[in-house]
Amino acid sequence: MDETISNEARSILGLRLSTDPRWVNLAEISIEAILTDHAYCEQKAAVSCISLVQRYNQKPALVKALAPIVTEEWGHFRMVLAELEKRGMQLGLQRKDVYVNALLKFVQTGGAEEGRLLDQLLFMAMIEARSCERFKRLSEGLADPYLQKFYRRFMESEAGHYSLFIELAETYINKDKVKHRWKEWLEYESEMMNSIEIRGDRIH
Ligand SMILES: [Fe+2]
Ligand SMILES: [Fe+2]
Repeated sequence: MDETISNEARSILGLRLSTDPRWVNLAEISIEAILTDHAYCEQKAAVSCISLVQRYNQKPALVKALAPIVTEEWGHFRMVLAELEKRGMQLGLQRKDVYVNALLKFVQTGGAEEGRLLDQLLFMAMIEARSCERFKRLSEGLADPYLQKFYRRFMESEAGHYSLFIELAETYINKDKVKHRWKEWLEYESEMMNSIEIRGDRIH
């Protein structure tokens, strides 16, 4: 994990619900399916960062921080694509993203600009946090040592990203407000995770 992240950011992270360890066994059934879903996750992360850069073009700190993340996420997509190719596997079709769609329902879309910006950033932080946790599970639970290392790198990278989104929120919004809303996000996410089907062909 990036050593430069603030203690504050570190202390407010923390998912309420750990993934059932058996999920890795489901994921392992089809490496092609899990890599395919992973590839689309990375693609969507890059696209979402581009959208934020476009939408908040008058916030230089945000633009500066997210511009390199676009490149990084796209690099992740290419890494997963290369892994599929190396294994003689195909990038399958994009699946319905139940997890992200459920998170989107929690994003504030009306009201003051500050609240909307906060939720845009925490929505991203939430996906990064859960992705990081899932990659950790894969890095610890997959039988293939190569894939363990492969997923450890992703885990570290996404850990840095979720901290970055929290820190960006703290750049524009009062830290107590960020902390309070992040707790609500964690609460919502854990309840939602409990209600959706656990699938081996999905990162989330
Ligand atoms: Fe990524
Ligand atoms: Fe990321």
